[in-house]
Amino acid sequence: MIACAVALFALTLLGPLVTSLVDDWSRRDVELRATLVFNSVSGPLSAMLENGQTDHINELFERVATDSRIVAVAVCRDGKEPAHATKLMPSSISCEKIARSDTESFSSVIVNGRRMLIGAYPIVSRTDPSREIEGHFIIVHDLSFAEHRGQEARNYLTLMLGGIILASGALAIGLVLYLIRNWLRTFKQAVTSATSPGVRNAAASYGPLDKEVRQVLRQLEMSQSAIDRDQANWSKETLRDIMLAELPGVEVLVVANREPYIHNHGPGGIELQTPASGLVSAVEPVMRACGGTWIAHGSGTADRETVDANDRIGVPPRSPEYTLRRIWISEEEQDGYYYGLANEGLWPLCHIAFTRPVFRESDWRTYRAVNERFADAVAAEAKTSSPIVLIQDYHFALLPQMVRERIPDATIITFWHIPWPNAETFGIFPWKEEIIHGLLGSSIIGFHTQFHCNNFLETVDRFVESRIDREQESVTLKGHETFIRPYPISIDWPPAALANQKSIQDCRDAVRKRLDLPPETKIAVGIERFDYTKGVLDRIRAVDTLLETHPEWRGRFVLVQAAAPTRSKLQTYKGLQDEAMALAEEINAKYADVSPQPIRLIIRHHEPSEVFELFRAADVCIVSSLHDGMNLVAKEFIAARDDERGVLMLSHFAGASRELAEALIINPYDAHATGEVLHSALVMPETEQHERMRLMRAYVSTRNVYRWAGQMLLDASRLRKKQRILEIAALDTDRAG
Ligand code: G6P
Repeated sequence: MIACAVALFALTLLGPLVTSLVDDWSRRDVELRATLVFNSVSGPLSAMLENGQTDHINELFERVATDSRIVAVAVCRDGKEPAHATKLMPSSISCEKIARSDTESFSSVIVNGRRMLIGAYPIVSRTDPSREIEGHFIIVHDLSFAEHRGQEARNYLTLMLGGIILASGALAIGLVLYLIRNWLRTFKQAVTSATSPGVRNAAASYGPLDKEVRQVLRQLEMSQSAIDRDQANWSKETLRDIMLAELPGVEVLVVANREPYIHNHGPGGIELQTPASGLVSAVEPVMRACGGTWIAHGSGTADRETVDANDRIGVPPRSPEYTLRRIWISEEEQDGYYYGLANEGLWPLCHIAFTRPVFRESDWRTYRAVNERFADAVAAEAKTSSPIVLIQDYHFALLPQMVRERIPDATIITFWHIPWPNAETFGIFPWKEEIIHGLLGSSIIGFHTQFHCNNFLETVDRFVESRIDREQESVTLKGHETFIRPYPISIDWPPAALANQKSIQDCRDAVRKRLDLPPETKIAVGIERFDYTKGVLDRIRAVDTLLETHPEWRGRFVLVQAAAPTRSKLQTYKGLQDEAMALAEEINAKYADVSPQPIRLIIRHHEPSEVFELFRAADVCIVSSLHDGMNLVAKEFIAARDDERGVLMLSHFAGASRELAEALIINPYDAHATGEVLHSALVMPETEQHERMRLMRAYVSTRNVYRWAGQMLLDASRLRKKQRILEIAALDTDRAG
């Protein structure tokens, strides 16, 4: 456009100039030629004129006039008409009109629309130059060729300018294409090399590319959520594929207090135990799929004897798929960090179960020190500068920031496995600001439900000076942005513990035989750690109300309550066990004449295969948590029932109730209503059981633990790409600046 305007301007200015130059030049050329002609004829002409040789003059003139540009020649003497004029002498040219002087002179006239140049040369006597002039030699030239020349020159000029415009346009287009291609390549590089080390949170402004960068990032986000949505069959293999495709060669480190394999001294030597922990059952299959290192407290009595010189052991011990790095914690430290701050402080604070939290300054100090030790271990285990660090749970609220300080480029995902209370409740925690600062060292903080995410954002808003982006659900503190996301945790599908199970009928027979129950007895199971948040007492009370309201179940129904002792060092937990035993005894005594007795309380650890056998033998599973982040027992029961039978009763206060709508939802605080629901469960027709169980199995099978981990890893990969792009954009801006 600009080039065209310049060319037009140039043509308007240069066109007339070129025309007048060419005209001048042509005219001078003709004058010179005319003078040459005169010089060559002046001698003989003067002689011929003196001698009156008219014929010779005519002959000479006709010869001269053969030149194509010469129109005519003649002599002007005294008369009006030219003498000796050649044939083509225009009649309109008379001697009077021709300027004649003592020297040569030129004038131009238009004859019949053509420009002509008339040259007049005085003829002097050859023999006596002092004699008067004998006349003037007239030569008429056609000047129209000068116009053609001018036109040609203008054409050349136009062509030349056109060429320049085309060339500069092509150059400009080439340049623009080069810049666009370069820009796109930069983005492509950013996308493809996002998994390479050296990714850090970039500054908030990305210079002139800001808008475009944001657009591309948004598209990136959309494309990845498409992966998630379309990825219906989440499995170990899918997770591996995602790691390979999205995070090739990226190191994964897990930090969790509880180790997945515990070595204890037993009667038969060293025994291997898998702990009863929802966290472990979720994270373990993920580690098997991804590989990497799990850093945990070595809590078993034989743990030190089974590790190598670097406190590492390949696990699962029979066919290792990843590394377990054990951290040693003294009893005193455990008292402060694990029993004290984590389980007497944060656990009751985050679970609304009406158990008062206890906060001790000394516990807080120990908690901080143990978090530091784990941070050192993470830094020591990390082989690269930007690993993905998956930090688990409330034992490590300070760890994210500590890891961030040691490995600035790490992608840190912290998953909070328990509920996050509302801001008012959290407000009683004496070190709330420190905890929030610690957590905000993460790249992403995950909770089970959107509700817990909202509570966390509200808490940050209330107690910490930061910038909260409600649309993005992120918090920016001191220039570092942390995303808050819900990731509903789940289980392996199909769970490993299902592999060697007998048929449903065999499981029912085996369990009834072992517990000495008649074959027609209906069984409800409750299986968990012996924790006051699980509502064990409320469940037992609900059985009482069932038997009160529906006496027909007396002697035909049993609640098998398997409870694994946990945190027994704490009085609250010990007290709960004592209370549960007393309550079970009291209710069994109430129905002393009934056989079998309604409550079977089995307080010991159950290995997963035993747990699954119980699930398969049961008619009903009761999950009556007073408050629970998710609750995986509910999902495991569903997974165990490949016969698509059995009824799940699920507390409204467990995160799982948000997902498993086909369960019978209960309020465990309402013993009577729970007893009624239990009755409905026991009489539920098989077709309805089938319909509900089928839907829940379909849901959990796809929303399994691989999806849980996959979503986090996809988000981690997206974040790394995003940061890489921002880094490149920032670099470009720097360079441009
Ligand atoms: C359950 C909770 C987890 C918690 C774990 C701790 O699985 O859902 O949030 O980390 O218990 O159990 P522990 O026996 O290790 O104290």
